[in-house]
Amino acid sequence: MPAPFSPWRLSVAPMMDWTDRHCRYLHRLITRHALLYTEMVTTGALLHGDQPRHLDYNAEEHPVALQLGGSEPADLAACAKLAERWGYDEVNLNCGCPSERVQKGAFGACLMSEPQLVADCVKAMRDATRLPVTVKHRIGVDKIERYDFVRDFVGTVAAAGCEVFIVHARNAWLQGLSPKENREIPPLRYEVVAQLKREFPQLTIAVNGGIKTPDEIEAHLAAVDGVMIGREAYHEPWSMAQWDSRFFGATDPAHSREQVEAAWLDYLDRFHTAGRSWPHAMRHALGLWNGTPGARRWRQVWSDHRLKALPPREVAAQATAARLSGAALAA
Ligand SMILES: Cc1cc2nc3c(=O)[nH]c(=O)nc-3n(C[C@H](O)[C@H](O)[C@H](O)COP(=O)(O)O)c2cc1C
Repeated sequence: MPAPFSPWRLSVAPMMDWTDRHCRYLHRLITRHALLYTEMVTTGALLHGDQPRHLDYNAEEHPVALQLGGSEPADLAACAKLAERWGYDEVNLNCGCPSERVQKGAFGACLMSEPQLVADCVKAMRDATRLPVTVKHRIGVDKIERYDFVRDFVGTVAAAGCEVFIVHARNAWLQGLSPKENREIPPLRYEVVAQLKREFPQLTIAVNGGIKTPDEIEAHLAAVDGVMIGREAYHEPWSMAQWDSRFFGATDPAHSREQVEAAWLDYLDRFHTAGRSWPHAMRHALGLWNGTPGARRWRQVWSDHRLKALPPREVAAQATAARLSGAALAA
């Protein structure tokens, strides 16, 4: 039976320093169906660095996509092979990152000005792997706001066999803005992404940028095939709790926050038992109780440096007590 939903219907964005394997493990406890992206890994880091450190992940994370940064077709092909060998479900090429470091490496958003090079990269990757090869990009660079710029980019890359495009619906301004400002200042123009879908109905087009609520997601899904969420999923992880029932037809009950916290504690416990520290994983979960009374106290306990050598269950007991007393005070 064909899968009822596109794998790209709803996904959590690649985010450097944020969507590491621990973060993805947490997100998977909250949504069983959304596609999860890794942080961007450069071809140089993969080909000359510690491959297990960059590529290992937890089996529970599937479906999980590896995002690559690079612009050398042969290197990207070699990395796509590695992605397949490691069992990833997709390889994605970053054509949207505006950081200076990335521009020096001549990849990321500046690749949008070189559609034929991106097409060559995609072709080399497709020849090297059976995995889907997808591209994440912007709607333009610098002051280029003409629709035909992004249309020609997508058309050229699609001709090389790419069937899935994830479009951050704002330009990347390569001069004068930090990466953070480049996620906030260039205006969002969702209509450009919807137009791409109308122009290329055979392609899978997903929209990204500034999308937060399930109602917003639903509205976008009327125009495009998928929605990718970044910062909202990270800062407010519980916002993903509705996704499976609302967007993937799941009928089994969603987990409660308590159940997710209990499963997450089991995960942290494994670190502690193995003699490894847990706070670098826990940082991704600090928003778990956001929006409920006592959440701030819970977060404060987990962030307390003096508790970082304790077993996570002891910290959890203190955090829960603080949360419940905060909730009682608020009642
Ligand atoms: C901390 C951080 C790191 C990011 N790192 C990457 C990255 O490695 N690769 C990428 O394609 N986009 C990266 N992005 C951009 C996001 O994938 C996404 O396109 C952007 O945040 C807009 O979506 P949002 O408004 O839902 O957050 C990053 C964003 C943030 C906040």
